Amino acid sequence: MCGIIGYVGKQAAGPVLLEGLQRLNYRGYDSSGIAVLDHDGALAVLKRSGKLAELEASISDPPAGRIGIGHTRWATHGAVSDGNAHPHVSDDSAVVVVHNGIVENYRELRAQLGQAGVTCTSETDSEVIPQLMGLYLREGADFAEAFQRVLGEIKGGNAVVAMERAQPDQIYAARLGNAGGIVLGVGEGEMFLASDLPALLPHTTLVQPLENGQWAVVSAAGTTIRDLAGEAVPFEPVKVNLDPVAVAKGPYKHFMQKEIMEQPRALSDCIRGRARVNPAGVSLEDVTLTDDQIRSLRRVLIIGMGTSMHAGMVGRFYMERLAGLPTDCDNASEFRYREPLLGPETLVVAVTQSGETVDTLGAMAQVRDDWGAPRVAVTNVEGSEAARMADGSAIYLRCGPEIGVASTKTFVASMAAMYLLACRIGQVRGYLQGAKLEHAVEALMTAPGIVDQALAQKDLCRHVGRICRHIGHILYLGRGLQYPVAMEGALKCKEISYIHAEGYPAGEMKHGPIALIDRNMPVIALAPRDPLYDKMWSNIQQVQARDATVIAVGTEGDEELASAVDVFIPIPACDPLIAPFATAIPAQLIAYYLATGRGADVDQPRNLAKTVTVE
Ligand code: G6P
Repeated sequence: MCGIIGYVGKQAAGPVLLEGLQRLNYRGYDSSGIAVLDHDGALAVLKRSGKLAELEASISDPPAGRIGIGHTRWATHGAVSDGNAHPHVSDDSAVVVVHNGIVENYRELRAQLGQAGVTCTSETDSEVIPQLMGLYLREGADFAEAFQRVLGEIKGGNAVVAMERAQPDQIYAARLGNAGGIVLGVGEGEMFLASDLPALLPHTTLVQPLENGQWAVVSAAGTTIRDLAGEAVPFEPVKVNLDPVAVAKGPYKHFMQKEIMEQPRALSDCIRGRARVNPAGVSLEDVTLTDDQIRSLRRVLIIGMGTSMHAGMVGRFYMERLAGLPTDCDNASEFRYREPLLGPETLVVAVTQSGETVDTLGAMAQVRDDWGAPRVAVTNVEGSEAARMADGSAIYLRCGPEIGVASTKTFVASMAAMYLLACRIGQVRGYLQGAKLEHAVEALMTAPGIVDQALAQKDLCRHVGRICRHIGHILYLGRGLQYPVAMEGALKCKEISYIHAEGYPAGEMKHGPIALIDRNMPVIALAPRDPLYDKMWSNIQQVQARDATVIAVGTEGDEELASAVDVFIPIPACDPLIAPFATAIPAQLIAYYLATGRGADVDQPRNLAKTVTVE
């Protein structure tokens, strides 16, 4: 997490850095700071806890200098405070550093510094980096030697960016492990660097990401890249196609609102050109698995975190029903440490919007290294680490950038991507053929229209947001394909409205949570007409018997349900496999209106970050 920006060139660095931090804000936003070096070596470090606006407001006179680095923080070690904000400097102010990741051995390194008479002033793990570099410079090392030495000493996944006061024309940047990307961007007589591509786009589309274990010396006069052994790596930036306009908020109040409303288009973009009728079939251009490899599969494992994991839980049904393969879905952070048993006959599908979530990447590395399992990444970011780790075998969501911290459009697109993959596998394995294949493809093609119709119920969702906004807890219930949507609805609710919510399998509810139910506990029941509808109906009766207010999301025309509950939100009639696309919409909208009704910061919820690059 945390966002890093760097600039060297002909412009005043301060405004470029602040503008870049604005774009990186979604990665972390509890503190921010910049360091700018003047050509005569004067160093200005300006940092503040709180939102970026607080830093901006505190800067009346932007520092002079055409080189600088900046950081937006998501606290891991040390409280949210001015002192713990980045950049951090060595005690003689010779070195200034911004850092993303966790220096896992920072306690040990701090102790070493202590023995050498250097005391860290912040509570962060990051500060050991400039302090150690300062120490090595005083011992006679040059900056490159000090940088390289510290890179060899710090443990964990880290991105480090540093400047030396004595060299006001160069920025050093390194990437160690998967915890934080660094992308270098080439301008005319100027260079940029950032944690990710969107922050560079207003300036340049000519970029090169640093690979794991590479470090760069970046200057307007030229850039060199080396690996940790000191071997030169070619600097060959490539042009990328990304539309900066797509990241603008448009007429919407919040990015999340915009992203919810653009889901029909996001889904169409994801499906377009991949699913076809007449003859029915699915092709996935970037999935490099051969038909022989697909035929040799015996199992599928889907991994992800947060919303992506919930999409994976839906994907599990698709793999079982459409591909005919036993499938598990696991939380990547749990999976990687439970010594699971796998083999090359298991396809691992990593679902990650950003393609940078450290636990998902860690699990991807493990399945390749330990079991030689083939991998496919489902991701929204082209060229992301997950796509590269899957050897380019990726299904890109094609959603455009998702800025709202709480994922919405990438949830529905991830489900669609797994549906497509399941159809493709089922087709090759001969499991999904003829009318069954036709039906499956046609059903998926209805999804964008169904989502569009579901969005028409936003006023009802706003009403639910209004009546529930002073409530302390909400229970979301679902069965089968609706259980993951219940989990996702509860997650959205927690993330942005800060109301405690739980997503539960409706059948499990009577084994504990039912004890919590009274008139102060609204229950949001996802009850479309599907094969589990009657069971769901019984569960709704059980909570109503205990005075719960029931908000049911059900199939339009279901008058019986509509008259039995307090609020009925209709979704269009559709194939049960497609119903999660429809029920996801009220789940997202209810959370959105709960949050706005409570005055919460929808796009930048407290304590969260869009991309989680720490364990
Ligand atoms: C963070 C975000 C979530 C997201 C999760 C997984 O927690 O706040 O919205 O679902 O990371 O991210 P990924 O990029 O791997 O989908």
